[in-house]
Amino acid sequence: MALRTILNKSDEALSKVCRPVEKFDQKLWTLLDDMAETLKKANGAGLAASQVGILRRAVVIDVGEGLYELINPEILDSSGTQYGVEGCLSCPGEWGYVTRAQKVKFKAQDRNGNWYEKVVEDLFARCVQHECDHLDGKIFTRLIEEYVDVEEENQ
Ligand code: NI
Repeated sequence: MALRTILNKSDEALSKVCRPVEKFDQKLWTLLDDMAETLKKANGAGLAASQVGILRRAVVIDVGEGLYELINPEILDSSGTQYGVEGCLSCPGEWGYVTRAQKVKFKAQDRNGNWYEKVVEDLFARCVQHECDHLDGKIFTRLIEEYVDVEEENQ
C-alpha cells in the first residue's frame, strides 16, 4: 500500500464526471488499498478516486463503522434532512453548514464486482452524498449555507 497525493479542489480532476469502474482487478484493489491508507493518514471520513487523480467511480468511507468500499455507487432513495458542518480533504480549511438527506439507501459494488445495498443515516449518509457528488465532479463548497471557522487541530 502507498499513500496517494490528495488533489486540491482547484485541480481540474475534481470537476470531472468520473467513468464507471469496469475491471475488478489488481489495479483496482491497489487503488482501493492506497485510498484507504490515504484516508486514514488524513484522518478523513471519505475519499473519492478523483481526489487522487483517478477518474473512476470508486469511493472509500470510514465513519467509525469500519472501512466501506463503494464501486459505481448509486443513491436509490433518500429521506429527511440533516443540517451540519461538512469539510473535504480537497478543501483544507474550508468548513461550512450543508443540508443533506438524513437517510439514504444506496447500492454499490464491492471490490469483486458484487452488488450490495445498504441503508445509512447521519454522518454515514452525509458522507455517501458528499462522495457521490465527487464522482459527478461536484464539490461540497457549492452547497455551503454558512461558513464556519475551525481551528486546524480540530479538523
Ligand atoms: Ni470531499
